[in-house]
Amino acid sequence: MDLTRNKKKTRKLISNLPANSLISEQYRTIRTNIQFSSPDIDIRSIMISSSSPEEGKSTTAANLAIVFAQQGKKVLLIDTDLRKPTVHYSFNRINVVGVTNILVNRLPLNEAIEPTDFENLYVLTSGPIPPNPSELLASQAMKQLMNVLYHEYELLIFDTPPLLAVTDAQILANLCDASILVISSGKTEFNEVKKSKGLLESASSKFLGVVLNNRKMKKHSSYYIY
Ligand SMILES: Nc1ncnc2c1ncn2[C@@H]1O[C@H](COP(=O)(O)OP(=O)(O)O)[C@@H](O)[C@H]1O
Ligand SMILES: [Mg+2]
Repeated sequence: MDLTRNKKKTRKLISNLPANSLISEQYRTIRTNIQFSSPDIDIRSIMISSSSPEEGKSTTAANLAIVFAQQGKKVLLIDTDLRKPTVHYSFNRINVVGVTNILVNRLPLNEAIEPTDFENLYVLTSGPIPPNPSELLASQAMKQLMNVLYHEYELLIFDTPPLLAVTDAQILANLCDASILVISSGKTEFNEVKKSKGLLESASSKFLGVVLNNRKMKKHSSYYIY
C-alpha cells in the first residue's frame, strides 16, 4: 500500500485556477449538460470511465465533483478504481482506509469518508488494493453500500478503472444511474471508443455522453475539456 502523499501524482484540480478560467467554465458546462440531459430521471449517481488508462477519468471525476459541490449539492467522490486508485492523491489524503475496508471488514462509513477543503464535497478513497476487485464490486456488500450512500448524499461520483481492460467499470455502470465516457483526444482508437460506448449503452444506467479531454486548441498551449 502506498501511504505517501505525493504531490506529483495530484490530478489537476480547477481549484488551483481562477473561477472564471476557461477550464473551470468548461467543467461547469459539462455539469449543465448532465443536468439537462435527462429531465425525466433524477441522476444521483454517475460513473466516469474511459476505454484505456490515462485518458483523464480521475481528473474529470474530481473536477466534476468540485463543480457540483460548488452548486451546493452534497457530493461524495468515491474511488472505485480498486486497481490504480488516485483520488487520495488529488485531495491530499492518505489512503489507509476506504471502500475495500467497508466491503470486506464492515468498517463504519464515518471512519472512511472524509470531508475535503471544498464545502459540500466528501471523498471515499479506495482503501487497500484487493486481490479481487471485480468480485468486491459485484458483491451484495457493494449494493448495500450504494444504498446507504444514496440516501446520505445528493450526488455520488464514481472514479473507475478502464472499461476495456477489466469488467469493474461495467459492474459499476449497472449500479449507477448514469455513465460518462472520457476520451483522450487523439489517443483513443475509434474502434475502442465504439466498443466502450457499446458497453456503457448496454448497462442499466443511462449513458450521458462523452467528455473529450486533452483537446489542443490552436494558438493556446494549455488543455481544454469539452
Ligand atoms: N486535460 C488535461 N490536461 C493536462 N493533463 C491532464 C489532463 N487530463 C489528465 N491529465 C493528466 O494526465 C494524467 C492521467 O490523468 P488521469 O485523470 O489520472 O487519467 P485516468 O484516471 O483515466 O488514468 C494525470 O497526470 C493528469 O494530471
Ligand atoms: Mg484514474
